[in-house]
Amino acid sequence: MSKNLRYDVLVLGSGAAGLSLALRLRPDISIAVISKRALHEGNTYYAQGGISAVLDPKDSVDSHIQDTLRAGGALCDPEVVRLVVERGPRSIHWLLDQGVSFTRNDQGRDKGDYHLTREGGHSHRRVIHTADATGKEVEGTLATRIHERDNVAIFEDHIAVDLIKSHKIGLGDNRCIGAYVLDRRSGQVVTMLARFVVLATGGASKVYLYTSNPDVATGDGIAMAWRAGCRVANMEFMQFHPTCLYHPKAKSFLVSEALRGEGARLLLPNGERFMPRFDKRAELAPRDIVARAIDHEMKRLGSACLYLDISHRPTELIDRHFPTIRKRCLELGMDIARDPIPVVPAAHYTCGGVLVDKQAHTDVPGLYAIGEAAYTGLHGANRMASNSLLECLVFSELAARDIEGLMAEPALRLEVPPWDDSRVTEPDEEIVVVHNWEELRRFMWDYVGIVRTNKRLRRAKRRVDLLRQEIIEYYSNFRVCNDLLELRNLVEVADLIIQSALSRRESRGLHYTLDFPEKDPSQCTPTVLIPDSYRPRRKS
Ligand code: FAD
Ligand code: SIN
Repeated sequence: MSKNLRYDVLVLGSGAAGLSLALRLRPDISIAVISKRALHEGNTYYAQGGISAVLDPKDSVDSHIQDTLRAGGALCDPEVVRLVVERGPRSIHWLLDQGVSFTRNDQGRDKGDYHLTREGGHSHRRVIHTADATGKEVEGTLATRIHERDNVAIFEDHIAVDLIKSHKIGLGDNRCIGAYVLDRRSGQVVTMLARFVVLATGGASKVYLYTSNPDVATGDGIAMAWRAGCRVANMEFMQFHPTCLYHPKAKSFLVSEALRGEGARLLLPNGERFMPRFDKRAELAPRDIVARAIDHEMKRLGSACLYLDISHRPTELIDRHFPTIRKRCLELGMDIARDPIPVVPAAHYTCGGVLVDKQAHTDVPGLYAIGEAAYTGLHGANRMASNSLLECLVFSELAARDIEGLMAEPALRLEVPPWDDSRVTEPDEEIVVVHNWEELRRFMWDYVGIVRTNKRLRRAKRRVDLLRQEIIEYYSNFRVCNDLLELRNLVEVADLIIQSALSRRESRGLHYTLDFPEKDPSQCTPTVLIPDSYRPRRKS
């Protein structure tokens, strides 16, 4: 029998965004945190480089703002950029208060101060980090703190299926009142009701064959919000990280941009350095430029990978700042202190997402979106390195303050019918899901990747339409399971990416098409897609 559970706040996702929000809420507020796998599993845990914030007296808020705007291809919302950058230092102090430990300088004039590294697009050293495993430290610390909170119920191995809206139970209001959640272990769908629901479900880079992201990054929150009537924006701007490890045994392993910040150089197979030919900032140009340059050189030379070389830097520095990367490469028979590292670009970050305002409200009352699942306006056409964790921290605080302000309003006691699976049967051909998943990720890589054309995009659109039909049929007839839900969401997100890419008839930031290779100043606005079920939000 399906259960009904009630909370004040239902947080879908347990990365930096979801956990920070839950920790920022008052302890008298009842909260459920839902996580698809183990609590820590998500992009946050794998973050390497660090978190950008103005922490050096020689740096300035204006400089961080200008760098972000420049990297974003003139498509960022300047007010949001200022809001986030100004709140950077206090977000870092909040992390320190939670117990996060960052790397300090161990020598020189600044001995004992936090070490700040540099990454692409940043004109100053402003990335605070924990060696090359910042995410592990942040996620681990926040997870420890959340386990200490009596007001937070944690549901691991639970995947949200869809959002529940008030009109489903005959109330006219278009409000989000909860979610159906599948317990992956028992196969049972639970009804979870809440006064406020927060999507913190992360990005969608698993829509591509090659990615730096873990398996959970299937765009579930973006797809659920779209089905619930929320607008999404800028989905064509999928970021490809220039340097993922190229090795048959290295699934999704990133080689941090911070290596380039500490002097690593990109090389062709013949040892020649090539980035200065593409941009005067060379290896420290923003990611879209570096990834495109690598893609160009790989295609020109017919090479399966290029190389990143930090071997000219002292081994002691490599060990202090990049212990995880050196260890992983050594396990695979490569010593980065001696040898260049084979690298390729791979899908890394979803710059677009569920459109939200400055309090993280979506178009549906009662529903918030934060972190990589959201489109806030910070990143524009290309996210600058290490601005993502910062955005998670800032918007989780803004959403938490907004929710607390609304808690005084009386709560409705709603009754929602349980999930009805009386008319479905056990899946008969699970292999269909596996094949469709592979097909989707491959054609997205081939046709909707770093370099696009209208012909390739239209080809991808035809395939996605067919897959969609098949999956809707499958979903309606068979009992839901994790893989089917993820595939359903990935297909939805793929469609949103393709639609957005087809509608942008220029090249800007991460969206590069051979049909329109130049930037068009008249298209300097976000791409906003509107679902059929969209209803404009009433001003309260
Ligand atoms: P995530 O951390 O991805 O968490 C998403 C959560 O949602 C997970 O708990 C997942 O289980 C859950 N979830 C998803 N769908 C469902 C569902 N249907 N039901 C229930 N739960 C669900 N950014 C930086 O700023 N600095 C860096 O150094 C950096 N390095 C990176 C390195 C790597 C390898 C990667 C992949 C990303 C990196 N990024 C970095 C980007 C950054 O890590 C992410 O954008 C950020 O962590 C996103 O946080 P989040 O909380 O929004 O999502
Ligand atoms: C990296 O360490 O290169 C990733 C940083 C980021 O994605 O912001």
